Amino acid sequence: MDWNEELLKKNLAGKFLGHKLYYYPETGSTNDEAYRLGLAGAEEGTVVIAGSQTKGKGRLARSWHSPAGSNIYTSLILRPHLTPAVAPQISLVAGVAVAEVLEQYCPGKVELKWPNDVLITGKKVCGILAQMKMSGSAVDFVVLGIGINVNIGADQFPEDIRKIATSLAVSTGRGIFRLELIISLYENLAKWYKKLLQNGFASIKERWLSLAPMIGQNVQVMFLDEKVSGRVLDLDEDGSLIILTAKNEKLKISAGDATILKE
Ligand code: BTN
Repeated sequence: MDWNEELLKKNLAGKFLGHKLYYYPETGSTNDEAYRLGLAGAEEGTVVIAGSQTKGKGRLARSWHSPAGSNIYTSLILRPHLTPAVAPQISLVAGVAVAEVLEQYCPGKVELKWPNDVLITGKKVCGILAQMKMSGSAVDFVVLGIGINVNIGADQFPEDIRKIATSLAVSTGRGIFRLELIISLYENLAKWYKKLLQNGFASIKERWLSLAPMIGQNVQVMFLDEKVSGRVLDLDEDGSLIILTAKNEKLKISAGDATILKE
């Protein structure tokens, strides 16, 4: 076993992210657990980690494949002093933090895809799902859920995602020590989160764009059954993608799945 509750607690004691830690060998969804804890008043920096999830949730009402023993499923509670409109910046921060840590294992192969997928050689290795709870017109808390395919084998993915998903072990050809990975992840995430709160969005946006080379590219974005395509002009403060359509219309897209169109 490459981690257990005791080791996690020992290594994360006193850290901004993880000083309070709930470990479940199995749970429905770490996001649901963290949300419940958030409602009960859990402090900022509280984290939930599960060995497996029976109802792992993805974006756009999808599920997240969450078998036991091999991957990372974690959700963090944050209480940022941000307006709800810019709270999606937290997901972008998470994307940057995850991508930088995975880069250490797979140099030169990691990139971000809007809104917040992390890819290795074009295949998805990590998904991020943020949920926000408001209190009046302010943010009460944000649950930041991160799922990383770490040691799962290529043939252990369900058939329907086998072609589009990968894991760190598949990409590096070796088993990965999850304890070390999650400690670096929380550390790097804490660094970028503090940077966002202290210095604002500009440096995060710049780093995000350097990891997601989308500006100037032609993309197609699918949301539900709607398809929009255009050239990417910018990433907005609220995390939306700003594109220019062939009809010269500027559109702000806040949700969906983007694919870069090959010329
Ligand atoms: C996506 O669709 O890309 C987002 C996937 C997010 C998965 C993680 S795993 C930990 C946390 N708990 C969940 O139920 N979902 C997130």
